[in-house]
Amino acid sequence: MAQHSLHNVSVHIRDRKKVEDTLECFRKGGPNRVQVISDFDMTLTRFAYNGTRVPTCHNIIDNSRLISEEGKKKLKDLLNTYYPIEIDPALTVEEKLPFMVEWWTKAHNFLVAEKIQKSQITQVVKESNVMLREGFDVFFRQLHKNGIPLFIFSAGIGDILEEVIRQAGVFYSNITVVSNYMDFDGNVSGLLQGFKGDLIHTYNKHEGALKNSRHFEKLNDQRNVILLGDSLGDLQMADGVENMENILKIGYLNDKVDKLRDQYLKGYDIVLEKDETLNVVNAILQYISAQN
Ligand code: TMP
Ligand code: MG
Repeated sequence: MAQHSLHNVSVHIRDRKKVEDTLECFRKGGPNRVQVISDFDMTLTRFAYNGTRVPTCHNIIDNSRLISEEGKKKLKDLLNTYYPIEIDPALTVEEKLPFMVEWWTKAHNFLVAEKIQKSQITQVVKESNVMLREGFDVFFRQLHKNGIPLFIFSAGIGDILEEVIRQAGVFYSNITVVSNYMDFDGNVSGLLQGFKGDLIHTYNKHEGALKNSRHFEKLNDQRNVILLGDSLGDLQMADGVENMENILKIGYLNDKVDKLRDQYLKGYDIVLEKDETLNVVNAILQYISAQN
């Protein structure tokens, strides 16, 4: 029962009545009215496992044998410089923006310099420590079975996240991915020469969402949106949905929990603290999909 799972210690809610009312609307509408818009890194993947951080899409490559020792050091320096800015509770989004562009641009240039080949991606993902959140199989299967569209909107790397989902055996036909895709040259093994399209970083998902409004126009019936994210930038991921009736924003608060709690509670309807599972989301989906 969805209400029951909302009383877990890891679940924080500012306005319980509003959440319950939204859930009731979702239940009445049923699964045909619902779409899910989700971030990838640290939302569908775990933040940590046994006290060790789980890699993001970028980290999967950074930590792999494809990167030279010198390249690894450079990428680690970038992470140590820019990740604290990404999650700094004292900085506004406007203040963070130029640093995010700098981080992604520098990281992508370093990756291009490492002469990565397309044919190596599958194996590198296999050898990595990436982990989807506990309950991922139920999550993906449930959405597919009920015909609920899943839009994965990630500032990570599209080729990598697709491979993670494929290797987990849950890349179903109801999934659409928008992310930074690698641009390989025309040779057989394919050499990385850049990234395709406009850069997506943590804090420009508003612009990205509007650019994808054509996708959302096709989902005219799915006016009830479940949004899943882990960053305050993810709150903008549904901005391209014009005919929205209800939205339930669920946020994973993974890091700097005490300092960020208030900001997360202002933006997200449900905040999940140090919760490495998709259990709450799964319970909500089950509640919506149960025969009414
Ligand atoms: P997301 O939008 O799927 O969460 O992916 C973005 C995450 O990627 C963001 O939280 C920071 C992370 N990241 C790295 O770990 N290494 C990098 O080099 C870059 C550019 C981003
Ligand atoms: Mg994320």
